[in-house]
Amino acid sequence: MQSVVILISGRGSNMEALVRACPAGAQVRAVISNRADAAGLDFARAQGIATDVVAHRDFPSREAFDAALAQAIDRFAPDWVVLAGFMRVLTAGFVEHYAGRLLNIHPSLLPAFPGLDTHARALAAGVCLHGATVHFVTPELDGGPPIMQAAVPVLPDDDEDALAARVLAQEHRLYPQALAACVRGEVRLDVATGRVQWQADRLAAADAALLAPPLRA
Ligand code: GAR
Repeated sequence: MQSVVILISGRGSNMEALVRACPAGAQVRAVISNRADAAGLDFARAQGIATDVVAHRDFPSREAFDAALAQAIDRFAPDWVVLAGFMRVLTAGFVEHYAGRLLNIHPSLLPAFPGLDTHARALAAGVCLHGATVHFVTPELDGGPPIMQAAVPVLPDDDEDALAARVLAQEHRLYPQALAACVRGEVRLDVATGRVQWQADRLAAADAALLAPPLRA
């Protein structure tokens, strides 16, 4: 059974989606937050999942926080460390420690709109398509190679909340699919080249997953 540790900072709806649709062969062993008041911790506790809080405010530097966080994570011997709305910039040392097994979801079609306020920026830019990306994490913020993306249309009357809700619904479908492909060994990060490699016979399925979610919702 592969061990999954999920990191959250707040609501935790992506974590909840991952727990509810946890891929066969994997188990969410722990949910760890940098904020004690993260609402998602209550859901994890209610599911009987181990929780922990490593509060970034308790540490004098990013390096010290990341070292404590890694210690908390490594107690669960994770095969996969899954960032689900974990709103901290991570040090290169932390990222390299988990190279090839550290995933993130970002609410945009990367490389468009890295960073914060992605929905407002998509509306301001007037794009027709917006969405979400699951990617392997590299030291560059929101810069790691995409595993799967889901696109949604931007509609004429959209405001930030309406667009965010449309994207979030797809995030909840996308992240379990992407994690499942990782757990099954269908996709991996080639750490030497920094590129994502799909098993050749899974490419068709991956393409379908990538293109279909918004249209099938
Ligand atoms: C999600 O939309 C996720 O994509 C985003 O934060 C939200 C967390 O919601 N993550 C980022 O912006 C990371 N750069 P959740 O706590 O309900 O999953």
